[in-house]
Formats: sequence, structure tokens, C-alpha cells
Amino acid sequence: MSLQRIVSRRKRCIIGLLLIISLTIFVYVTTISMSLELVSVVPKYVVFFPCSGNTSNTHQQPEASILPKTVAIRKIKEIPRHISNGSEPVIPIMLWNNYLINNPDLCKMADNISILILVKTNPLNFERRRIIRSTWTNKAYFQHMGVLRVLFLMGYAQNNTVQEKIYREFDEHLDILQGDFLDTYRNLTNKGVMGLRWITENCMQAKMVVKVDDDVVLDTYRLLEIVYPMYETKTRYILCNIFMGGKAPIVLDGKHKWYVKDSELKSIGLLDKTYYPPYCSGFTVILATDLIPAMFGVAHVTPFFWVDDVYLYGLLPLKVKGIDYISLSRNYTFSYKRAMNCFRGKQPCHVLSIGETKMHEMRPMWNMIQSYHSKHTS
Ligand SMILES: *[C@@H]1O[C@H](CO)[C@@H](O)[C@H](O)[C@H]1NC(C)=O
Ligand SMILES: *[C@@H]1O[C@H](CO)[C@@H](O)[C@H](O)[C@H]1NC(C)=O
Ligand SMILES: *[C@@H]1O[C@H](CO)[C@@H](O)[C@H](O)[C@H]1NC(C)=O
Ligand SMILES: *[C@@H]1O[C@H](CO)[C@@H](O)[C@H](O)[C@H]1NC(C)=O
Ligand SMILES: *[C@@H]1O[C@H](CO)[C@@H](O)[C@H](O)[C@H]1NC(C)=O
Ligand SMILES: *[C@@H]1O[C@H](CO)[C@@H](O)[C@H](O)[C@H]1NC(C)=O
Repeated sequence: MSLQRIVSRRKRCIIGLLLIISLTIFVYVTTISMSLELVSVVPKYVVFFPCSGNTSNTHQQPEASILPKTVAIRKIKEIPRHISNGSEPVIPIMLWNNYLINNPDLCKMADNISILILVKTNPLNFERRRIIRSTWTNKAYFQHMGVLRVLFLMGYAQNNTVQEKIYREFDEHLDILQGDFLDTYRNLTNKGVMGLRWITENCMQAKMVVKVDDDVVLDTYRLLEIVYPMYETKTRYILCNIFMGGKAPIVLDGKHKWYVKDSELKSIGLLDKTYYPPYCSGFTVILATDLIPAMFGVAHVTPFFWVDDVYLYGLLPLKVKGIDYISLSRNYTFSYKRAMNCFRGKQPCHVLSIGETKMHEMRPMWNMIQSYHSKHTS
């Protein structure tokens, strides 16, 4: 046997050994991550072994269109024992439950975010989201005025067809946050808490947070030109339609949609009360970003209550303290007709938010708002 052949055989042996070692490490690492119950759907173009190549590219901020489709799927964790007595969790599950769909880079793509808009939506409301994206939240209208980001908050529907459609919608727009909870009326508090948590984790660079329902049309021009400059430097405020203490009766009629049981009131210390503490009607709420981590923090010690507006804009702020509630009572309407007349009229129109719009009213409303501002700015 020639020396050359011995050397090459040794080389092959070393390569073989190296292969076996790396395989062992790989299996080991995989087992560990599986035991952490983390299964990630990793996009094809992510570099798996960063040391093997020039990785400087992976640290650059990607363009929106090529952003990795970050769909992390984790198995449901056990509910921590200290916050559960074995049956119902006593604080909102979205404080720790995982996200099913998430784009953690939504806010990282811009250094200056003026306003983050959170839209509370139902998985099935595809058309509403489509309209919202193309009308009052569409960046194209406001590029010169400020940087907007929009995030749709939802749980899941128990329907694979719907979920597939949502994955495709996310791939296209990257603006959905879906939590691991069934999207029901009685889980809306979880949806709200998920929003607080996500901002705390991913979007503290936003200067203002606007939370709306998906049947709202907002005058974004007014928001950016008038409201934002007024509050840009302020902290600890909530602008909303406030129900002051003593004004919002607790519904005890068993047939009513808002009926709450004695045991539910007891859990939040409101048994024997006739009224809720002050809270906001949640269809449009504007918050100082600095409040969000504080509200998320106190949610960990605030028992779950399913009426989301009471929980999010009443019970949590009550514990944060030092919050200025500012009334928007003169700046919204639930009447399409009244809003149309306001924008059509000769007087300046101060309407910021139109709630409870029907789907077919959203575009005409937006067109009217645009035409109002084209007349009133120049
Ligand atoms: C890595 O790539 C960047 C540009 O993509 C280049 O500037 C840099 O010199 C490269 N580094 C190495 C170690 O090759
Ligand atoms: C847990 O708490 C709920 C509501 O407070 C109560 O109805 C239930 O009986 C409790 N379960 C146990 C196992 O203690
Ligand atoms: C970010 O904001 C600062 C101060 O308001 C401004 O000077 C800068 O141009 C902004 N950057 C971008 C990318 O808009
Ligand atoms: C799931 O949703 C699709 C589309 O909305 C619908 O056609 C189908 O009936 C639903 N399936 C179930 C089991 O509800
Ligand atoms: C809320 O979501 C959880 C997790 O998916 C689910 O188990 C629970 O039944 C939902 N609650 C309601 C009242 O729909
Ligand atoms: C609300 O309307 C009043 C006039 O009715 C106006 O002075 C105020 O600036 C408006 N506030 C907002 C936040 O749009």
C-alpha cells in the first residue's frame, strides 16, 4: 500500500469520525429542544449553522417582503400551579401561553414608530381586515406624517380551512398576532392581554398605542396631525370614551349578553357592588406606550374577568395608578349617518372614530374622511 493511499484512508477515517460526532451533537441538541417542547417551523433560507459561513448578512434588517415567516409553534404548556387551582386558571392564560403566529420584527423594521395600531379581530373577519389594510391604516396615505404599524390580534377558530387561510394572509402581510386560545367572546380579555404582552416584548419604540375593534373607521389624518402632536411627549394617559365610576351598572340579569355571575364578581372583589369602577369603552382607546408594561405587569396579579373592557381599561389601570383618563366623548360616534354629515358639513368636524360600522360602510366612510381632509388642509 502506498503512503498516499494510507494518508487518504486516514483522511476518510477522520472525516467519518467528524461526521459521527456532529451527528451525535445534532441528535443531542434536537432532543434537548424537543424536551423544551419547542418546535419551530424554520424558513428555508435561515442559515442553520451560522459558523460555517459569513453570517454578517443575517444581521441586516430584511426588507418587509423577505422577512422570515416566523411561525413558532409550541405545545401547550402546563398551567403554572400557583395560578390555577386545578380547574379554571385565575389569571389570563395569554400571560404565558404561546403565540401561534407572530412577527416579532414588525416594529424593528423602523426606528421611529409614531403609532402602533392594534386591531381586535376575529379569525373569520378576512374582509374587514382587507378593508382596514387598504383604507385608514394604509401607510401609503401617511408616509409624510409619521410611521404607522398595524397588528391584528386574534385567537384561533377550530377549523383547519380557516387556519390555512390565516397562514396565507400572514405570509402576505406579516401583520397578524394569533394566540393559543379559542377565539370566543369570553376569551376577549386574553386577546387584550396578549396585545399588552406583545408590545412589552416587541414594540416599546412606538410612541403611542391605538387599540380599536375591526368595525371601526378612524380618521388617521386627525390622529397624526392633531392628536399625536398633542400627546407625543406626555406619559400615563388613556384617551377613550370613559364610563366614570357610578355610571356603568353591572348587569345581573341572567338573560343579558353582559350578565356576570356573583362568583365572577367575587373573584375581582366587586361582589355587592352595583357599578363597575371607571373604565373605557374598548372600541377605540389611545394609550401612552409607557403604560403598557405596567398594565401587563399588574395583569399577573389581577384575577381574570371576561368583560375585556372592564379588565383592560378599568381593573388594570386601577392598580397602575397615576393615570390620566381623557375623554373622547366628543370625538366619536356609532352613527354612520351622523359621521357622514359631520364630515360633509361646513363646520370643522372633530370626529376621530366611527364605531360599529357595517362592512359596506367602511370604504365610503374612508372616502369621505379623505375628501374632508383634502379640502381642509390646503
Ligand atoms: C462578510 O460579508 C460582508 C458583506 O456581505 C463583507 O463585507 C465581509 O467582509 C465578509 N466577512 C468575511 C469574514 O468574509
Ligand atoms: C377552583 O376555583 C373555582 C372558582 O373559584 C371553583 O369553582 C372550583 O371548585 C375550584 N376547584 C378546586 C379543585 O378547588
Ligand atoms: C426619527 O426621528 C428623529 C427625531 O424625531 C428624526 O430626526 C429622524 O429623521 C427620524 N428617522 C426616521 C428614519 O424617520
Ligand atoms: C370551516 O370553514 C370553511 C370555510 O369558512 C367552511 O366552509 C367549513 O364548513 C368549516 N368547517 C367546519 C367543520 O366548520
Ligand atoms: C379560551 O381559550 C382556551 C384555550 O384555547 C379554551 O380552553 C377555553 O375554552 C376558551 N374559553 C372560552 C370561554 O371560550
Ligand atoms: C375632540 O373634539 C373637540 C371639540 O369637540 C376638540 O376640541 C378636540 O381637539 C377633539 N379631540 C380629539 C382627540 O380629537
